[in-house]
Amino acid sequence: MADLRLENIARDFYDGRQLRRVLFPINLTFKPGELTVLAGPSGSGKTTLLSIIGLVLRPSEGRMWLSGREVTGLADDVASKMRLATYGFVFQQPMLIDGLSVQDNILLALGIQGAHIPGVVRQRVAELLTSLGLADTARLPPQMISGGMKQRVSIARALIKDPAIILCDEPTSALDAENGQVVMGILKKIAVAEKRLVVVVSHDARVFPFADRLIKMENGTVVADTAAGKPQGLDVAS
Ligand SMILES: Nc1ncnc2c1ncn2[C@@H]1O[C@H](COP(=O)(O)OP(=O)(O)O)[C@@H](O)[C@H]1O
Ligand SMILES: [Mg+2]
Repeated sequence: MADLRLENIARDFYDGRQLRRVLFPINLTFKPGELTVLAGPSGSGKTTLLSIIGLVLRPSEGRMWLSGREVTGLADDVASKMRLATYGFVFQQPMLIDGLSVQDNILLALGIQGAHIPGVVRQRVAELLTSLGLADTARLPPQMISGGMKQRVSIARALIKDPAIILCDEPTSALDAENGQVVMGILKKIAVAEKRLVVVVSHDARVFPFADRLIKMENGTVVADTAAGKPQGLDVAS
């Protein structure tokens, strides 16, 4: 299990002429066992914040702690190792490699593939696939399965290292409504039943009912947070 604490995290980007602030100082904590949805219009800073949380992007200001250890200011290689060990990522596009089987796509996350996979690892892949409704797809090439199934394979790829934190950027945006619900149901279970810390960036209101906590961003600031007391102008139940 892992938790995250952000203190006055801000980010500027150079837009070609000047530094432009896209995230204003943000203070948030994230707990394991919760699915947090980070919502807000395009350009509001969701992906930037998720990238900072995921140790992919450095903040311009502020400090961040991962399970009590400060992670701002870590050397790149240390941050990369921590990212590999602690985080799984799911994106809008599953980004599977067509020339590899479903199983090998998942094993890519472990840096192994091919015929000589330890039995215990093969077993773990099979269990994961079954739990995601993908039993008997291990040997198939991605071209043979549907878009919704591909996205579930990308979740398996994120889970194979048993990460404490799962970060998802618009994971349902390329899916139809039904597959979007299936994927959100899986992410919810990964958070609540498996006690992981899950953050889902989305501007799709259909994901809101799955949120244990809904944070809304606008123009680089948090404008509402259901964990901070009263939901402000957010209809979580709809
Ligand atoms: N690498 C970058 N360089 C310059 N500007 C960026 C970069 N990444 C994001 N931005 C800007 O930061 C703002 C927030 O972007 P982003 O975090 O992607 O928003 P969202 O995910 O909510 O759509 C946007 O105005 C975007 O143009
Ligand atoms: Mg984005």
